[in-house]
Amino acid sequence: MTYTLEFDGETLSVDAADTLLRSLLRAGHPVVYGCGSGNCGACRVRLVEGRVDAPPTSTLSPAQQANGEILTCRARPLSDLSIESVTPTATDPVTLDGVITRVERPTPDLVKLRIRLAGVLDFFPGQYGLLRTPHGPARPYSLANPPGQGVVEFHIRAVPSGKAGTKIYEHAKRGDPIELTAPMGDAYARDLRGPIAMIATGTGMAPMKSLLAHLVQREYPFPVRVLWGNRKPEDAYDVASLEGLVKGLADASMQQVFSAEAGGSRVTDHLDGLAPSLLGWKVFCAGNPSMVGEVSQRVALMGVAPHDFFADPFTPAED
Ligand SMILES: Cc1cc2nc3c(=O)[nH]c(=O)nc-3n(C[C@H](O)[C@H](O)[C@H](O)COP(=O)(O)OP(=O)(O)OC[C@H]3O[C@@H](n4cnc5c(N)ncnc54)[C@H](O)[C@@H]3O)c2cc1C
Ligand code: FES
Repeated sequence: MTYTLEFDGETLSVDAADTLLRSLLRAGHPVVYGCGSGNCGACRVRLVEGRVDAPPTSTLSPAQQANGEILTCRARPLSDLSIESVTPTATDPVTLDGVITRVERPTPDLVKLRIRLAGVLDFFPGQYGLLRTPHGPARPYSLANPPGQGVVEFHIRAVPSGKAGTKIYEHAKRGDPIELTAPMGDAYARDLRGPIAMIATGTGMAPMKSLLAHLVQREYPFPVRVLWGNRKPEDAYDVASLEGLVKGLADASMQQVFSAEAGGSRVTDHLDGLAPSLLGWKVFCAGNPSMVGEVSQRVALMGVAPHDFFADPFTPAED
């Protein structure tokens, strides 16, 4: 079954079984989006007329919900619709052109990109951007460098048969043009005045590296504990530079764990070792979605308040 969707004056046909985002992308309509899974808020629009099926979300603030805003990546049409773009706020993403200036392949399935942007990108450590390269569909990737630099860094995993990661790993080269829509996500550092735990698997280390570098720049005096899980030691990357950042802090340590080693373990096996209690701690967590879900429940039991838990589950895109 199809309905009619009017968006900022343009009319298109949308399938009742599809999210509005998928229909818009299929129609080639220029839309801003990020995670594709209801977590970042980048795809919000205002519903002017009609009804949608949209699950309840805490991604939109009560004020945004009262304004009739919906997430196109979660909403499916229940009638003909009219929607409009919302007025951008200071924290909304901007789209910048850029050029790849450095490509490194530190492991057989991980590529690091350095990118010079055509403008200055304002962001907080922990945020991410939607990166479009000539080698595949746009995907959200975490910003791995601290803010305030003319370049940005990404750590990209080539997941088997991945439409974006594998192609970037195989083909990215110096001089490639890119487009970046950023910053996105609200798992970012704010109001930092106490102990911090960072828990990551795989390239979930990218936003942690950004945060660590930011803390070093600030000469952060409070305890910082980093727990990083990979399958095998050879999957870990940037270890020397991460250890250098950890050493640059007053009271910090990093523990690496490996799940596919004989006698190996997962980050979730080591949460109790972070500190006797996590009361008053802020916890940043990124990587595998099921790990993020488990950590969120466990650290809550160890005393972490919901507003002190900042999570970036690397949910796979839907296209
Ligand atoms: C907020 C956010 C931040 C992110 N930051 C990063 C980052 O900094 N670095 C990074 O590498 N990725 C990051 N991701 C994940 C990234 O956006 C892609 O989803 C992922 O790289 C797979 O994209 P692809 O096109 O290569 O694979 P796809 O073509 O989307 O997927 C191919 C197949 O692999 C499966 N798959 C997808 N991801 C994984 C995975 N991680 N492990 C195993 N199988 C998988 C899919 O379900 C599918 O079957 C982030 C995701 C989000 C939502
Ligand atoms: S919330 Fe819709 S794209 Fe992220």
